[in-house]
Amino acid sequence: MFKSYDDEKTFQLITAACKVSGLPLETVLEVFGQTWLKFCMDNGYEEMLRTLGGDFTSFVQNLDALHAHLSRTYTKLNYPSFRCETNNDGTLTLHYYSKRSGLYYIVLGVIPQIASVLYNQKATITVDSREEQDIENGILDDHVIFTVKLSKNDGNTTVNNKEDSSTIENNKELVCIRPTFPKQTIIQAKHFCNIFPYHLIFDENFVIKQCGSMIQILLKTKMERGSSLTSLFDLTYPRVDFTLTNLMAFINSAFLMTSVKKRNGHSLVLKGQMRWMPDISHMIFISSPCISSLQELKAMDLYISDIPLYDVTRELILLNQQRMAEMEIA
Ligand code: HEM
Repeated sequence: MFKSYDDEKTFQLITAACKVSGLPLETVLEVFGQTWLKFCMDNGYEEMLRTLGGDFTSFVQNLDALHAHLSRTYTKLNYPSFRCETNNDGTLTLHYYSKRSGLYYIVLGVIPQIASVLYNQKATITVDSREEQDIENGILDDHVIFTVKLSKNDGNTTVNNKEDSSTIENNKELVCIRPTFPKQTIIQAKHFCNIFPYHLIFDENFVIKQCGSMIQILLKTKMERGSSLTSLFDLTYPRVDFTLTNLMAFINSAFLMTSVKKRNGHSLVLKGQMRWMPDISHMIFISSPCISSLQELKAMDLYISDIPLYDVTRELILLNQQRMAEMEIA
């Protein structure tokens, strides 16, 4: 079941489906998209799909995380990436990137299903533009931009932002509370760097402005203001060139960065989230060391205590250790 097939086989299967049904490729893919959600729900993923997002937008913004999670079970995945923006008129602009060309008709089929089955809304989706984008050393990604118009089942267009009434329906208790923020942060930079030891803040030119304490200790490098992120780290996931445009395009992905400098022959791999801060035009990368066993921890000359208590990487390492011990006994 968890076997992965060459793309060639998948495309052969689609061509055969076209021949048997007499339908054009676009229709076959769209119909596949229309049945995909129900198929996944009927095959053990219903709870996961129903809990992914409180509203349609949050669902789409977390599709990358869903596929990334699946890649733990299904190996060698080459999953697509989704990102959406809310427009002033209440419509959504949906970006889809795929290493496979021409599969975007699946999106045309699956998006209305998500709106209807999970959020009791009607979605109209149209293709705005399609281009092949060079994102990794000349490798092209299919980048398709869609407009999604959501309406309640009575036909009225709904606005997709958090103040929207449809969101309130799905998320009643959350939107009642509007967070307040202090005028200035009361925490000093050094405390921030110690509390979040694996974070980095950098500007549009990848100049590091702030760096967590453990990154500096592990790389044996004092991050002076002005150090360049791209000379210290390679971007290993998503497989795109290390440019700001690409970071923004894949902002919903989990990012993996690998240190150029090695420690005990091992690179430091950080896994985390990028958040763009538009008011100051800086990006923050909040991460954890990408370690899943005590062996890897030892190899990096790290201790459990080097991972903050709030970071679930601790639990992951210990859980994995326990699982391996149980397997040895069995
Ligand atoms: C739990 C539910 C889901 C599962 C188990 C799942 C699983 C997968 C898998 C295994 C692939 C193939 C990736 C590869 O072979 O490299 C894939 C691709 C894809 N998934 Fe999902 N997926 C799920 C939900 C969704 C949803 C809700 C969407 C809605 C937009 C979606 C959109 C796509 C698309 C468009 C592709 C096409 C591949 C491409 O563009 O290269 N998936 N998914």
